[in-house]
Amino acid sequence: MSAATLAGQRLLISAGPTYEDIDPVRFIGNRSSGKMGFALAAAAARRGAEVVLVAGPVHLQTPAGVHRIDVRSAAQLHAAVLAALPADAYLGAAAVADWTPRTVAAHKLKKRAGVDTLTLELVRTADVLAAVAAHPQRPPLVLGFAAETDELEANARAKLLAKRLDLIAANRVGVAGSGFESDDNALTVYGRDGFARALGPAPKTQLADALLDLLATRLARP
Ligand code: PMT
Repeated sequence: MSAATLAGQRLLISAGPTYEDIDPVRFIGNRSSGKMGFALAAAAARRGAEVVLVAGPVHLQTPAGVHRIDVRSAAQLHAAVLAALPADAYLGAAAVADWTPRTVAAHKLKKRAGVDTLTLELVRTADVLAAVAAHPQRPPLVLGFAAETDELEANARAKLLAKRLDLIAANRVGVAGSGFESDDNALTVYGRDGFARALGPAPKTQLADALLDLLATRLARP
């Protein structure tokens, strides 16, 4: 069976980590490689979608036919995603920092003799996914990811409701063979309408296609 087309659809996808600067040489990051989001972008472009990919700092090539916008911080990702609306779907695969330093030091923080601790004050970042879902130009389909070490289903369902999403794809992190950095993953997709489906374990490239099949069906509904 050939893959369901996405011709005529504009997909906005976020991928990769964000880096929250502490000073000119240090930052707070996370282990996202961007592979999951880039696989989605590549597969969507192959199906004929117009794809805008907002990417945090990653070492991946831009997939053919994809319009890529590079960002570094959660604030930049937030601004770039909102500026790229409207879209038919938003797929939030980026691992966006939840916290960022209140201030960025202009000069490298120096060690001082006799001072053995450093306290950083962190403030909450904006939730990009929730902002997209609450936006006046809300895409008809908003899909988030849930990266969890425990209580996968309960935590994913809570995010689905709290962020007012249509779908959430839950994946386990902190174990080999899924989540961050790995070429493979296993997803369980939950819908606000009661939908639930396990996808994989499989390579992220295959999971991207399986996820897009679900999306294409929903986007095709009148
Ligand atoms: O990049 P890879 O190495 O391939 O790994 C893939 C992945 C594990 C990063 C990916 O599959 C994944 O789970 N992405 C979401 C990671 C994450 O931040 O999950 P979360 O449960 O903390 O956040 C839930 C959702 O809210 C996510 O869609 C996230 O993009 C979004 N979010 C979170 C915080 C924030 N400030 N803004 C957001 O939009």
